[in-house]
Amino acid sequence: MTSYKELGLVNTKEMFEKAIKGGYAIPAYNFNNMEQMQAIIQACVETKSPVILQVSSGARKYANQTLLRYMAQGAVEYAKELGCEKPQIVLHLDHGDSFELCKSCIDMGFSSVMIDGSGLPYDENVALTKKVCDYAHSQENYVTVEGELGVLAGVEDEVSHEESHYTKPEEVKDFVSKTGVDSLAISIGTSHGRCKFKPEQCTRNADGVLVPPPLAFDVLEQIEKELPGFPIVLHGSSSVPVEYVKEIEQYGGKLADSVGIPEDQLRKAAKSAVCKINIDSDGRLAMTAAIRKVFATNPSEFDPRKYLGPARDELKKLYMHKNIEVLGSANHLD
Ligand code: G3H
Ligand code: 13P
Ligand code: ZN
Repeated sequence: MTSYKELGLVNTKEMFEKAIKGGYAIPAYNFNNMEQMQAIIQACVETKSPVILQVSSGARKYANQTLLRYMAQGAVEYAKELGCEKPQIVLHLDHGDSFELCKSCIDMGFSSVMIDGSGLPYDENVALTKKVCDYAHSQENYVTVEGELGVLAGVEDEVSHEESHYTKPEEVKDFVSKTGVDSLAISIGTSHGRCKFKPEQCTRNADGVLVPPPLAFDVLEQIEKELPGFPIVLHGSSSVPVEYVKEIEQYGGKLADSVGIPEDQLRKAAKSAVCKINIDSDGRLAMTAAIRKVFATNPSEFDPRKYLGPARDELKKLYMHKNIEVLGSANHLD
């Protein structure tokens, strides 16, 4: 058993309280390898932002859960080395799907876990989420738990739901009080991956770029009324920047019908009780664009550092932009 405090990590409790009061959201960035971790930490140290490092089931399969935990421990030391005196880094399990998985992460030093019972019938979701909360909250150092109500559309690896069902505002109070969750992921129109809406759901702007329908802010407002001041989480919040899509296609990629959540919508959400915003796909696009460019413009390059390095730099630039311009988490480190 290792407690996250021994690793220099923090849970989400205080972070979320400050974010709600301050009208900004904490970035939750997924990581699977060293370059992604370096880019996240560099960007968050330079913008003086707290951060949540997320480990998905795909990441655990790809990189190994133990190794990722040690990388998060290394991230704390790395942030200090980059000049951050008191890093605020959370190590969070993204989309945990069983009690056993959440327990194993808690036991090895994760400071926060998500139990995603959103695909289960309501009562089963309540029971599973409560079981995880009871375990996480009984630790000597309180581990925070994110639950989910409502179903996100989209298909992405392990996270797959065919339809989107907005969160029912009338259920949230009961869910939170019965389970004891510390934060709640909701469904108001975001979804995982790079194709968040079908083209027929969108309009096109003058440049022919797909413009999606707005998020259901009315549902968010009703949820906030039911749970005043309670931390709300948005998954599936990549913006799918058209510049990256174009660059990838310019260098041979094929990413038809890509459409994300416009940044102004995320900015608006971040000013509300939404205090954690999950971003993964945008990072994938940034890295892919940079790597494709190296391969296309310098076909004789074969040193991985020469294409992973530019990918890391692009990722850092993207995350700095998110922290400063979109989530507003920059300059919120103590
Ligand atoms: O929410 C899902 C994340 O984008 C991670 O997906 O399991 O492919 O790493 P993954
Ligand atoms: P995106 O696919 O929009 O980046 O969402 C990531 C996410 O929700 C991770 O849990
Ligand atoms: Zn997600």
